[in-house]
Amino acid sequence: MVDITARQRLKLLAGAAALMSSACGGSSTSAPPTPIGVIPPTTPPPTSPTGFTLSEGLLRDSFRNNFSVGTAITANQINAGDLSATLAQSQFNVITPEYELKPDQIAPTEGEYNFGPADRIVDWALSNNMTVRGHALVWHEATPAYFYEGTNAQIRTRLENYITAVMEHFAGRITVWDVVNEVTSVDIYRGNDGVGPDRDTEWFNAVGNADYIDWAFNAARAAAPGAQLFLSDYETENPFKMNWTMEIVRRLLERGVPIDGVGHQFHLQLNTPASGALAAIDAVSNEFAGLINHVTELDVSFYQDPGTCWQSGTNCSPDLGPMAPPEMLATQASLLRELFLGLVTRPSVESVNVWGVRDNDSWLNFAPTQRTNFPLLFDRAGDAKPALRAITDQNYVI
Ligand code: GLA
Repeated sequence: MVDITARQRLKLLAGAAALMSSACGGSSTSAPPTPIGVIPPTTPPPTSPTGFTLSEGLLRDSFRNNFSVGTAITANQINAGDLSATLAQSQFNVITPEYELKPDQIAPTEGEYNFGPADRIVDWALSNNMTVRGHALVWHEATPAYFYEGTNAQIRTRLENYITAVMEHFAGRITVWDVVNEVTSVDIYRGNDGVGPDRDTEWFNAVGNADYIDWAFNAARAAAPGAQLFLSDYETENPFKMNWTMEIVRRLLERGVPIDGVGHQFHLQLNTPASGALAAIDAVSNEFAGLINHVTELDVSFYQDPGTCWQSGTNCSPDLGPMAPPEMLATQASLLRELFLGLVTRPSVESVNVWGVRDNDSWLNFAPTQRTNFPLLFDRAGDAKPALRAITDQNYVI
């Protein structure tokens, strides 16, 4: 949910994280990676100051009859003793590598693949009985410029080769992929008479239309016929944007392009109504029988900024400081309880993934500007926040 300026900042962060992860993880062409720390099964469950005990598997088991529950992590976090890794292993059953599967991490140079950091996360997740969401094969961010060079035939072949190489490398290990990420127009505030449904991106401009989406899904199905293929986008909780996402999905299905589901990032704010998010899920399942819904990047920011903050870093809401205001924690808990109560009644929802483990892990501490944010289910100390308690215990008084 960020504009280009904020994205540019994120790219820098992604680059830094990649450097850190390659420093501790290695690549397929360098020395063998440092052995991955095994989290001791005897680690005592964290007990919060209020006496709440986070039992092993509480979060994932609370939804075991409904959907899997995942989180995002980076390769440099999966070391023995890392608190976020420990919590991920204890509470979640799906992992999304936060950066390591993006094109600029996998193939910074055309035809040369660096699977080391992604392999490290994937193997760690599998060895901890978690599955992996592959994120993302096609995105207009974190993508080297060479992808956009040449004729349409050259662009298409290069894209198909990339998708085939990546999916074949992870064959049997990753069976769910965000094939395209954020392809819906962001010009949503003009209503339905804007420029949608296709987003004006480097991919769209290089090809001259949105055919690259079809190419990507067709190549993905051919490379891994059994994998679940997703289109994932942000702000689908906004009905204007969701209408355009629906138009793209409708178009794909009409053309026989293989798509299995829609991913809803759900980067929410404290004042986002849960009803909008649930309506997006319903839109998919009501119109497209058989399509799956995933929540792919859930978080709830404590800041409500004007557009100028995202566009140019100006007029951003002031930093709340290191302590989360209790009334905001309560609002976050209420919103997430309402959302999860709605999600469990919707059988098309097969996986719900939050974008990070502890509040300090979140990208929202840096975007759209550097501030302390509190968007996730665990606080900086690793204690379960009111939101986690509210979604796992209906008797918990918010
Ligand atoms: C988007 C992407 C994610 C991540 C976040 C910000 O939502 O899909 O991979 O980069 O932005 O961290």
